[in-house]
Amino acid sequence: MYTLRELAQGFQVSERTLTRKLETGELRGYRVGNQWRIRGRDWLEYTGAVNGPHVFVVANAKGGAGKSTFTVNLAVLRAAQGKRVLLVDLDPQGHLATLLHMPVDPDRTTVQLLDEELRLPRAHPGRMDRWRTLWTDLMQPIPHAEEHEPLSRVWLVPAHNDLADLERANFHRTKPVEYALREALDALRELDVPIDEVWIDTPPNLGSLTRNALMASHHVVSPFAKSDLGLDGLDRLMVLVEQYLEFNPYLRVAGLVMNYGNPRTIMHNEIRETIMGRPALAPFLLDAYVSEAERFNQAPRLGVPLVLCEPNSSSTLELRRVLEEVTARVG
Ligand SMILES: Nc1ncnc2c1ncn2[C@@H]1O[C@H](COP(=O)(O)OP(=O)(O)OP(=O)(O)O)[C@@H](O)[C@H]1O
Ligand SMILES: [Mg+2]
Repeated sequence: MYTLRELAQGFQVSERTLTRKLETGELRGYRVGNQWRIRGRDWLEYTGAVNGPHVFVVANAKGGAGKSTFTVNLAVLRAAQGKRVLLVDLDPQGHLATLLHMPVDPDRTTVQLLDEELRLPRAHPGRMDRWRTLWTDLMQPIPHAEEHEPLSRVWLVPAHNDLADLERANFHRTKPVEYALREALDALRELDVPIDEVWIDTPPNLGSLTRNALMASHHVVSPFAKSDLGLDGLDRLMVLVEQYLEFNPYLRVAGLVMNYGNPRTIMHNEIRETIMGRPALAPFLLDAYVSEAERFNQAPRLGVPLVLCEPNSSSTLELRRVLEEVTARVG
């Protein structure tokens, strides 16, 4: 439930406008005493966030779990199925551009996407034109060879080191910082940009960049390393997802996926058993897993995602199974 003030502050719209929408029934709300309360679901329906592209976030508070590898490869597998996919890199390390061999122009990154100083207020008549210019400039096609045709349906908003500075400066925002990406994706929907899915890579922490992604996403995919026996990265993520449900009722965990798996090792089986013993994690553990394979370390040098440069490898097959399970859960 939101109060009128929270929505007005979070989305830069006047309380008077919202009250009018509530009174005409355009936006559903409930009166508690003389105060309006708006359910998150009703707000999302009103803003149109339910329609448009499905948004996936790949997250785990631990470093090296395979987030960037999964983001790129799962998104490209989706593109190979005909989906038009937008990759958004929220990790200042900028690994998505590295994995795709994309040169990064520091003036065309997620820094500009999140920086409030580049936006216009909700009530400004030129607001959507500004968004159109921003999105057109920031969504960059992936240069590719003809045989890697699925990449023609992939766009990237790359990250740059400066993202860490912007995060420290709270995105130059006067309002809650967690809404910056959500507003940007709401604008993308409003502009009807023909994108079917958005895949977001996040840094190895649960700071405000990852929180922005949780606020803007529908589905969380979380790879974890088989050696992560403590599982505290997953535990902390799940607590955060639970908290964010209040602000983003569409957020669901689509799957926890073991990476660096090897069922012949004790560690692989031990960690699966540990997860199955924890009610907060067990329902989300996927049967599919990705094995440890040297080829993952070679793919970045080729600049082509593994699923395209080695489409018949066992690793690609495993990533396909992960995607099948994720999409079956997402429905
Ligand atoms: N299944 C695997 N087998 C072997 N190497 C892997 C596997 N998955 C990922 N790697 C390699 O491990 C390293 C870390 O993977 P990746 O960058 O995807 O993790 P990350 O979670 O994004 O890390 P960070 O938290 O630093 O962003 C990379 O060099 C990648 O190529
Ligand atoms: Mg990464």
